[in-house]
Amino acid sequence: MDTQLETGEEVIARLMEVTATDMEAVNGQILERVRSHVAMVPEISSYLIEAGGKRLRPMLTLISARMFAHPNGNQINYAAAVEFMHNATLLHDDVVDESEMRRGQPAARKIWGNQASVLVGDFLLGQAFMMMVETGDLTALRTLSEAAAVIAEGEVFQLARAGKLDTSEKDYMEIITAKTATLFEAATRVGAMAGGATRDQQDAMALYGRELGLAFQIVDDVLDYGGVRGDMGKNTGDDLREGKMTLPIILALKEADGKERDFLASALGNGAADEQMLARVLDILQRYGGLDAAIARALDHALKAREALAPFAPSGLRDILEGITQYCVARVS
Ligand code: IPE
Ligand code: IPE
Ligand code: MG
Ligand code: MG
Repeated sequence: MDTQLETGEEVIARLMEVTATDMEAVNGQILERVRSHVAMVPEISSYLIEAGGKRLRPMLTLISARMFAHPNGNQINYAAAVEFMHNATLLHDDVVDESEMRRGQPAARKIWGNQASVLVGDFLLGQAFMMMVETGDLTALRTLSEAAAVIAEGEVFQLARAGKLDTSEKDYMEIITAKTATLFEAATRVGAMAGGATRDQQDAMALYGRELGLAFQIVDDVLDYGGVRGDMGKNTGDDLREGKMTLPIILALKEADGKERDFLASALGNGAADEQMLARVLDILQRYGGLDAAIARALDHALKAREALAPFAPSGLRDILEGITQYCVARVS
């Protein structure tokens, strides 16, 4: 099979196909674990979870387990835990970012408020840990709990750098490695663990996940300047209004003249930034190739993700993993 010729949709369809049975079990776990006698807990959790989302991370855990000969069943709990961790961070992230939209509908905080969103995020995180502990595997628990801490650290670092024009590419990479790539990496590593992979094989799958996660977040940051609201399921222009120092901005700032720098400084973190301001920012980003250079960087990471798979013999599953790297960047390039 030549994955180069496949569309992103075909790759995702194949990923869904090979993980379908396991995903049913994962969805069962998810339904079971949002239950609570406090009505607002399942209400908010289900609101977010039933809105869908791509379920990319749990499917990555499942396919990573399938890559190896002897999946021990723990991948179901890990995949559900990974999706719970992801949903918890989204609930928290939308509060921090003051976002209006998530998964094509009003963010939970717009309906139930910030306080309830934070608390239900904590509930989901707690349930995620319960599911990991139930497998009895301390090594996977270590991977995922470390990821939970690192993700939060990344979000805090991002907050600390908001609106700071001297934010470097290195800072940016540190932020996205922590807040996004770490969960992708953990998702593929614990999947490989459940599959019975050797330490070297686990490391290769983890590297694949990390590089894929970096490509994914860079693309998300580009889409925030170019995506259409309907496609993304969330508002575009949010990153600018929040003063988020993402790669397209950092790269354009290197080239911009004094006047343009001043303008970017006035737009970043300006909650009232309107379409006109956004258009001028876009103009500056285009002029200095900030978006294209960021896309090129995402493609580099997608390539590194594919290279990480080199130790594995060619197979239909490896083709899907390779295809996912293309799907992630095809969203924008
Ligand atoms: C959103 O992740 C958060 C980022 C890391 C950019 P996804 O784009 O995977 O969100 P869902 O789960 O599909 O909604
Ligand atoms: C990713 O960052 C969020 C987490 C990994 C917690 P973003 O803030 O860019 O994600 P979106 O754009 O809100 O989905
Ligand atoms: Mg956000
Ligand atoms: Mg974003």
